[in-house]
Amino acid sequence: MTEDSAAVLHYHQRTKHQVNAYAKGPASLDWDDQPNPFRRFQGCETVALPPPGKELACAFGDLDNAQSVPGQSVDLNSIGLLLELALGLSAWKQYGPDKWALRCNPSSGNLHPTECYLISTHAALVPPGVYHYVSYDHCLERRASFSEAHGKDEIYIALSSIHWREAWKYGERAFRYCQHDVGHALAALSYAAAALGWRLELCSEVADHDLAHWLGLDRSEDFVPQEHEAPDLLLRLLAEPNAPFAEAPPQLAKLYASVQWYGSATALSGRHFYQWPIIDNVAKHTQKPITSLERYQPTPLALAAPSQHIKASQLIRQRRSAQHFNAKAEALGLADFQRIIGATITNSKAPFTSWNWAPEVHLFIFVHQVAGLVPGLYCVPRSAKDTAALQAAMREDFSWHSIAAPFEFYLLVPGNVKQAAKMLSCHQGIASDSAFSLGMLARFADPVLQEAWRYRRLFWECGLIGQILYLEAEAAGVRGTGIGCFFDDAVHGMLGLQDDNWQSLYHFTVGTPSEDNRIQTFPAYDHLLA
Ligand SMILES: Cc1cc2nc3c(=O)[nH]c(=O)nc-3n(C[C@H](O)[C@H](O)[C@H](O)COP(=O)(O)O)c2cc1C
Repeated sequence: MTEDSAAVLHYHQRTKHQVNAYAKGPASLDWDDQPNPFRRFQGCETVALPPPGKELACAFGDLDNAQSVPGQSVDLNSIGLLLELALGLSAWKQYGPDKWALRCNPSSGNLHPTECYLISTHAALVPPGVYHYVSYDHCLERRASFSEAHGKDEIYIALSSIHWREAWKYGERAFRYCQHDVGHALAALSYAAAALGWRLELCSEVADHDLAHWLGLDRSEDFVPQEHEAPDLLLRLLAEPNAPFAEAPPQLAKLYASVQWYGSATALSGRHFYQWPIIDNVAKHTQKPITSLERYQPTPLALAAPSQHIKASQLIRQRRSAQHFNAKAEALGLADFQRIIGATITNSKAPFTSWNWAPEVHLFIFVHQVAGLVPGLYCVPRSAKDTAALQAAMREDFSWHSIAAPFEFYLLVPGNVKQAAKMLSCHQGIASDSAFSLGMLARFADPVLQEAWRYRRLFWECGLIGQILYLEAEAAGVRGTGIGCFFDDAVHGMLGLQDDNWQSLYHFTVGTPSEDNRIQTFPAYDHLLA
């Protein structure tokens, strides 16, 4: 086993929540020193983006067929809308003296460790250079300029993570949550691009080392040491959905012969009381090298239209996490359930148009209240090639009774699984009061032993599935919530899994939300209009 793989397996084992002990985190939270959720660079020129809030005509259901979505021209209006619909603010919430922003992308603990950059050589858009997106101000900060552009109009979007933001609250387990958030943000970008009639191609061959250089993240003098950013991924914008995939990895390196950098990151926290060296260690051991070009061409999947006819831009902005569910609500309709789960099966539409690999993550579902389904524990292998392996790995007494559905669907054991779902998700009622909750079971040891950096990709896949569930839940008139807190090995025990060939990496729940009327809601961008 390589040193990298050993470090990953050690990190993963150590950051499991156990029924009798949570993973190591801060003993107390210094709320006055919570990291600023909005990174800014001082000493940079800013480029204001056109006012946010514009609606697009296409319906969320239209995204099933990319051809039906009119392609927007690439200008500052549409690029601003892309960034807003993926990562911009969606509302402000207030409870007593506390006020916090929500965004189109979710984040564990609402801490938002994910940062976003634009690399543009499209001179008609902005002067060629590297730009950092500030969601609060809905503007771009010019971090770098290229004096010699390579003559092609290209736009790249990149994501990075500030691990400190998440570790401040969640300690050692935070690295996992940062990766989930990257998966959510990737899917959020992919959906936003689809609503504009575009496609984002994941340039997954790129090495982290190069991406760090292209984003200026390796300029350690520009960052408070504890608040450095780790590079995650690079996407190329294709301004029409059928543009061919790239034949060669991006040649961005040439632009950097003539680069000029500006600014430095302002501090996010005053103190950094707790240190989590295991996060730096696992980040070091999961750095991705340059790899060969991989693109995955999934087949189309026929999905019934979503039950709510709603504009894609409106639905994206209204996405929220349910804080509580109404356990007495009407059961979720079977067609809605099948649409929500069906959309997670790899297909040829967003967000899978920004994903390059066959599925490695499968679903086990706690069905509580879905019309036409007996309550119980179910399994949805997201790829038929893994069904037999899952059957062999799980408990012998599971029935694997096949249920008719537009995807592979098995009843493992009937019965009331509310208490099990709640207990396994850290005793959270959101896992039991919903219509269904689920766990995402990843093929684990094989990919991690082959290439340790694929650890991060497994969480990205889970985050991508989570974002599908969030938006599809809204399209069915219900609501979802990601669940990062669960008792790992208790989950594996319930499924009868004996080793780390399969590991549960993320949970999710969907149902009828019950609103907390004490919390007030305010528009996302009033502060810019004032
Ligand atoms: C990776 C991840 C893990 C999460 N885990 C939990 C959880 O265990 N319990 C919970 O109530 N909410 C959880 N959430 C929901 C977040 O708290 C929520 O996204 C955040 O507060 C922002 O609110 P919003 O989703 O409404 O924008 C999780 C979200 C993500 C993305």
